[in-house]
Amino acid sequence: MQMPYKQTARTTTGVVPPTEKKKGSKLFALKTDFLKNDEDSIQKGILDHVEYTLARTKYNFDSFSAYQGSAYSVRDRLIERWNETQQYYTEQDPKRVYYLSMEYLMGRTLQNAVYNMNLKDEYHNALLEFGFELEDLYEEEKDAALGNGGLGRLAACFMDSLATLKYPAWGYGLRYNYGMFEQGIYDGYQTEVPDYWLVAGNPWEIERLDVQYTVRFYGQVVERKTSEGVRHEWEGGELVQAIAYDTPVPGYHTTNTNNIRLWSSKPHKEFDLEAFNGGNYLSAVEAKQRSENITSVLYPNDNTYSGKELRLKQQYFFVAATLCDIVRRYKKSHTDWKEFPNKVAVQLNDTHPTIGVIELFRKLLDEEGLAWDEAWSIVTKTFAYTNHTILPEALEMWPVKLIEDLLPRHMQLIYGINHRFLITVTQKWPDNIEKMRSLSIIQEGEEKKVRMAHLAIVGSHCVNGVAAMHSDLVKHKVFPDFFALFPDKFQNKTNGVTPRRWIQQANPTLSNILNRWLNTDKWVIDLELIKGIKEHMDNPQLIEEWKQMKLINKQRLADFILEHCGIKVNINALFDVHIKRIHEYKRQLLNILSVIHRYLTIKKMSPEERRNVAPRVVIFAGKAAPGYFMAKRHIKLINSVAEVINNDKEVDEHLKVVFIANYNVSVAQVIIPASDINQQISTAGTEASGTSNMKFTMNGSLIIGTLDGANVEIAEEVGQENMFIFGLRTSEIDKAREKMKAKEVVVDSRLQEVFLNIELGTFGAPEVFKPILDSLNYGDFYLTMQDFPLYLDAQEEVDNLWKRPDDWIRKSIINTASTYFFSSDRAMKEYAQQIWGIEPCEVETTDYRRY
Ligand code: IMP
Repeated sequence: MQMPYKQTARTTTGVVPPTEKKKGSKLFALKTDFLKNDEDSIQKGILDHVEYTLARTKYNFDSFSAYQGSAYSVRDRLIERWNETQQYYTEQDPKRVYYLSMEYLMGRTLQNAVYNMNLKDEYHNALLEFGFELEDLYEEEKDAALGNGGLGRLAACFMDSLATLKYPAWGYGLRYNYGMFEQGIYDGYQTEVPDYWLVAGNPWEIERLDVQYTVRFYGQVVERKTSEGVRHEWEGGELVQAIAYDTPVPGYHTTNTNNIRLWSSKPHKEFDLEAFNGGNYLSAVEAKQRSENITSVLYPNDNTYSGKELRLKQQYFFVAATLCDIVRRYKKSHTDWKEFPNKVAVQLNDTHPTIGVIELFRKLLDEEGLAWDEAWSIVTKTFAYTNHTILPEALEMWPVKLIEDLLPRHMQLIYGINHRFLITVTQKWPDNIEKMRSLSIIQEGEEKKVRMAHLAIVGSHCVNGVAAMHSDLVKHKVFPDFFALFPDKFQNKTNGVTPRRWIQQANPTLSNILNRWLNTDKWVIDLELIKGIKEHMDNPQLIEEWKQMKLINKQRLADFILEHCGIKVNINALFDVHIKRIHEYKRQLLNILSVIHRYLTIKKMSPEERRNVAPRVVIFAGKAAPGYFMAKRHIKLINSVAEVINNDKEVDEHLKVVFIANYNVSVAQVIIPASDINQQISTAGTEASGTSNMKFTMNGSLIIGTLDGANVEIAEEVGQENMFIFGLRTSEIDKAREKMKAKEVVVDSRLQEVFLNIELGTFGAPEVFKPILDSLNYGDFYLTMQDFPLYLDAQEEVDNLWKRPDDWIRKSIINTASTYFFSSDRAMKEYAQQIWGIEPCEVETTDYRRY
């Protein structure tokens, strides 16, 4: 039930000095009310934007302009809440958290905004009279894909929870002109097309031309003697301008609206007069133009480090502008630097923004004139670092030479910090060169490198992993000496996902079931309530409703597959889903090899036997990094296998294989609610957490997976008997690799048959797949062959359970009921209390209205 709308006079909570008030009295007289949310007002808002913002008329009022007009009118309301919130935070001056992330995978915004602002019905009704369905307009929006995968989507879920929980938080990041590339599939191979996501404008951002900072690169450090000692000044080099773009983040049913501030690079206005006067006008303009490149493109690598200079420039540009903004805000109302860590917490989402540790230190030391120890103490109390991976190829290390060139003062400071840090090391382990070598921030060798993870650990007061098992590996396997040195710094914060987007918005049918059976819709913000659904799992009516819910979602996905892939799938078949970045450690290969085995097995069956086969639709989606040869070959293999199977009439009813191109957040919102099982089959010890596993579980999809990442904790909550857990355990991995090296692995005969078919050309030219088979036969680092028979056993269990539909549904209900712990609300409360030391700051206004 919605409360009737009550309009009251707007009060401004802003701190306005008396003289200003007088000057602006007209301004305040004019702006006294919030926009109304009745149907007429909303319609007028949409039409005004269609006419004045888009300059369109009723003659070209199409679906896209209806989407845009609606988006701009929602944005007006978001801006009101944003202003109200930010003024309130400024007045109250609570400690704030700043979440620094190079990636935000936001997906679409319209649906999320109207749900969170509790305006869905009003917009729905308003648009109906114009001849549009709000739900259709959602589809008009292009995804904002400024991220690669889990890490970027995590940042987006965290932002939603922080606003919903009313924490005073801002996200900072980069506004890439080109987001994650668009994936096409031609002849089974991945192609990449640039994603110029801003082509049709972005109604969700606010350009802040008044918020600009100058960022310096290269140049030199000059020492100047002053009465207080030597001052270091960083001079010369290239200057680039950072411009702020704000995206409001509305909390669920609250006025609190937080902000994500993204920086865009623009040429600095200062001219190099010599170059211009010397007749080099064009090349001087070109040089300026290059500065715009900094925020041109997101690096499309997931879990791999790119050693490119431009990437380091992006990182520094990001943190330099961000820290200017944070320090400016702090200085508006504070003068005592000691108070800084009591007002500011900064979270590093992986090592990507780690140079920010040194940037804040440099500002305090060189610009604010603080002493070394005092400045460093402030820095380390302010920063905290989240580790996202233990894969060696993902650990960032920048050549000293590169940093020296690009950021000369920072390199000096890193040396200084390392020197002091190594003294601490020798105090703990006297005369132990080996310990110093392994812990040093600088890696010695032919090319000296700065280890960003070491810098992040030394410069932070807290280091966390993202799932219990991952945090253990961080402590004991990756950084054991750091753990011995600073045992209190290390924590675990298991990831979470927002139930708003991943249940309520993605799965309205399930959402309605939960509302009715739980007799409340409060589970959306208090996911602990979802446990209650378990009480009804034996009720035949709920079982029936649950079955129907799955069928509705499967039909939606089947329609999507028919439209985008041209493949007709049977919604009564088991939907088996494997969607994530394509990576060897995630083992899409293990899955497709087992699909080949399934195909060969069905082919050998008599028609009688085939009648007993549980029909399956195997669905893959995911992008490979453009330079990742092996992952791209895996995509080709999946598509080649799909081509053969989908055209084989003999297996038509029993097996289909679908690769959905261009996986992104909005596609995930269609796929996840429709899945019966989901594949979380990474080699144990390689996946830090995984978050799609949580989204699937919320939607009642059963995991077939290894005991890796957060699967371990999901198994604790859900119970292993309600999942399909298989495979080598983390503790067995080293031994299994040795066995592989010693060539003691006997290849399962069923896998040999699969290899033989690939080699004989059943799925097209065998030489295309030779590198894949070689990777298994000579190394098999991810232990696909050893896990293969165990995986087939688990698949058999899946098939057997599928033949008992009511038992299946009961397990599905138990899965959904067991997801409280995997809400990002829980995760954010833990970060707030145990790392950041921040409290909710609920906006109080005289006008609140509907919550
Ligand atoms: P910043 O904190 O200076 O970046 O400003 C962000 C937003 O906070 C502004 O756009 C205002 O909405 C609000 N704000 C900033 N300063 C004040 C103030 O002095 N009084 C009330 N609100 C403020």
